[in-house]
Amino acid sequence: MARFSASSVLLLAFFFFSFSEARDHLIGGKANAWKIPSSESDSLNHWAEKTRFLIGDSLVWEFDGSKDSVLQVSKRDYVTCNTSSPIETYNGGNFKVKLERSGPYYFISGAEGHCHKGQKLIVVVMSEKHRRFFGISPAPSPAEVEGPTVAPALTSGARGLSGGFSMLALGALLFLL
Ligand SMILES: *[C@@H]1O[C@H](CO)[C@@H](O)[C@H](O)[C@H]1NC(C)=O
Repeated sequence: MARFSASSVLLLAFFFFSFSEARDHLIGGKANAWKIPSSESDSLNHWAEKTRFLIGDSLVWEFDGSKDSVLQVSKRDYVTCNTSSPIETYNGGNFKVKLERSGPYYFISGAEGHCHKGQKLIVVVMSEKHRRFFGISPAPSPAEVEGPTVAPALTSGARGLSGGFSMLALGALLFLL
């Protein structure tokens, strides 16, 4: 039987951990990025398009909470910048939003007029393929993708399980050495 080299084990370990670890994404990649963008390339959607969001990851907001807030809204309210009936309101300028499902999340500024000036953000969350591979991915239904309801216990549980499976796989590999 072929022996596993130390480097291949390391590579596999990297593979498992890089795919199972939940990440925190600081909005805009830096503090105080939640503001009216100065240009198109400065917009948060420009940043979001270059970022990979996975179920279990969190969005981290850091800004002056006395001047602004974050509203999670429907797609329609995102497009029209309607702040009157948000799904969630986040105040305080320093908070995390856990991404519990795949699909788009829509955020707009709660400050008067800011959304119309481009202070808005779409985060599209991808489902993690490796969780399907282990057969424990909560398959998101189409309703979940658009709807405001989430299943927190299920996804965080899945992440724990996934991590557990990674450790088991790693243990098995090390045993083979
Ligand atoms: C904003 O949304 C509310 C609730 O859905 C609705 O009653 C209102 O007409 C909307 N306002 C605009 C300007 O679209």
